[in-house]
Amino acid sequence: MTTPHTLLRSLPPDLDPNRLPRHVAAIMDGNGRWASKRNLPRVVGHQAGVGALKELLRCCKDWGIGALTVYAFSTENWKRPQYEVEFLMALFEKVLNRELSEMVDEGVRIRFVGALAHLPGALQSAIEGAMAATEANTAVEFTVATNYGGRQEIVNACRELAEQVRTGCLLPEQIDEKLFAEHLYTRELSDPDLLIRTSGEQRLSNYLLWQLAYTEIYVADVLWPDFDRAAFHIALQSYQGRQRRFGKV
Ligand code: IPE
Ligand code: IPE
Ligand code: MG
Repeated sequence: MTTPHTLLRSLPPDLDPNRLPRHVAAIMDGNGRWASKRNLPRVVGHQAGVGALKELLRCCKDWGIGALTVYAFSTENWKRPQYEVEFLMALFEKVLNRELSEMVDEGVRIRFVGALAHLPGALQSAIEGAMAATEANTAVEFTVATNYGGRQEIVNACRELAEQVRTGCLLPEQIDEKLFAEHLYTRELSDPDLLIRTSGEQRLSNYLLWQLAYTEIYVADVLWPDFDRAAFHIALQSYQGRQRRFGKV
């Protein structure tokens, strides 16, 4: 079933280039289990997961998928052991600094979404630098949800709108779905067409609750570090076999 990796540099011929998702979202899950299966510490799985992410981003560019949004750290992930949280924060900073010049060259525009003000200062600086350095890029819109919670994002939007009503700049009846979406972190992005979650888990875990309203969901049994081009190919085959109805007949 799987195609050798080297054959997949260009779009596999069984995929219709006109029916690709424009925006793919991913819940990168299963790093800890990947490491545990090898009797390695969980954090080794996070390190291995970076490779899979890099390859998926490159694949989106190669195959003409214009937007990729990944879940790197949830508002609930602070409840993990302190060592793992600190390792992840340091890893995000290291990878961002290491990969920035390549992202600039490859035309990747990187954005971070979430409660970024609560991240370690050094990571915040790296994030600001990377977002500014890639602002003009257009090949792929790459968004990393870090300290992100869908419910928190919705509550934030409500607060911003409530504040505008309080100061008399906005009438409650002027609030509609379009205006509401303009107060979400993802205001500059279209809604995802396809959501991929790895490791077999069938839940959203507080990811993009508003934006995923009509997204096609694909659950892959592989653990995130093993999610490669061949696995992405299968996810896209599944997506192209779906009929998106949006409530119509
Ligand atoms: C996902 O992998 C990465 C993050 C949440 C940062 P996990 O760390 O959740 O891996 P499992 O689910 O424990 O295997
Ligand atoms: C969701 O995975 C968060 C990320 C992948 C960053 P989790 O592993 O934290 O989700 P649960 O706890 O299994 O729902
Ligand atoms: Mg997990």
